[in-house]
Amino acid sequence: MTPLIIDTDPGVDDAFAIALAAASPEIDLLAVTTVFGNVGLAHTTANALRLLELCGRSEVPVARGADRPLVHPCPHRAADVHGMDGLSGQSGTLPEPTRGVVPRGAVDLMAALLNAATEPVTIAPIGPLTNIALLLATHPEVKPKIGRLVIMGGGLAGGNTTAAAEFNVWSDPEAAHRVLSGEDVPTVLVPVDLTHRCAVDAAWLDALAGGGPVAKGLSLLTETYRQHYRQHQGRDGLVLHDAIALAEVIRPGILRTAACPVAVECSFGPSRGATVADRRLAADPRVQTVQIAVDTDVDDLLAFVLGRITQGR
Ligand code: BDR
Ligand code: CA
Repeated sequence: MTPLIIDTDPGVDDAFAIALAAASPEIDLLAVTTVFGNVGLAHTTANALRLLELCGRSEVPVARGADRPLVHPCPHRAADVHGMDGLSGQSGTLPEPTRGVVPRGAVDLMAALLNAATEPVTIAPIGPLTNIALLLATHPEVKPKIGRLVIMGGGLAGGNTTAAAEFNVWSDPEAAHRVLSGEDVPTVLVPVDLTHRCAVDAAWLDALAGGGPVAKGLSLLTETYRQHYRQHQGRDGLVLHDAIALAEVIRPGILRTAACPVAVECSFGPSRGATVADRRLAADPRVQTVQIAVDTDVDDLLAFVLGRITQGR
């Protein structure tokens, strides 16, 4: 089993990512930690608790993390994409949480779990990288305990929030800079270049709606998100960014990767939050590289995600 911590800002696609991990026997879900992002921290934390309840996994500890970026305030949220509550205005359709957050904060909980771990732990950051930058900065001793960071973020050929920047990186570029080019931890980066190629269509969403209770519960959360993609991409469907990263956690190698150094633009110009991959240096042993997810068998991957979620309890 792969021990896993999910660091998240639910978020509709985060909801699918959590459900996918929760339904996977290969995964030992140690904790879910929350961060500001798609909506504010109060909503992302409440959503994480409710989603675990839906999945029948209320025993998984949830810890609250950063409510703002490391350095520069960032007022932008993604309520236009995910709804005012982060779940298309439908978070009230999820079961009430039977448990609250643990008293420890996200960084403390991650550090304690990593320090106690007897085998490498995967961390899946699928929101802004603030908690992860803080963890690595304040607890460097845990780095050897991290098997992989599997991060959803970045866009090599452009962004989804600005012309240059993807949402998670754009939300806290300084944190992303620290994690992607300031630390030597094995990292897979799953950028929008690939996640957009893995969009699901109306037939996939129909099959979801006809699935078990978890699948039906998720289906109810998709309306605003689906509407966003309808308006902006002119097609009926949606992009499950964060769930694509979780598929790689559950089935390592389902995404094909290529090693490359990545720098994050932290200036205040139009490129703020851009992720710049320097392919010239990909083979240079002196530079830190990350594994960038570049390709997958899209049909296989989407069938895998659907199968797991529709069979969920
Ligand atoms: C990322 O930004 C958020 O809106 C999604 O939840 C995902 O993590 C995609 O750019
Ligand atoms: Ca997210």
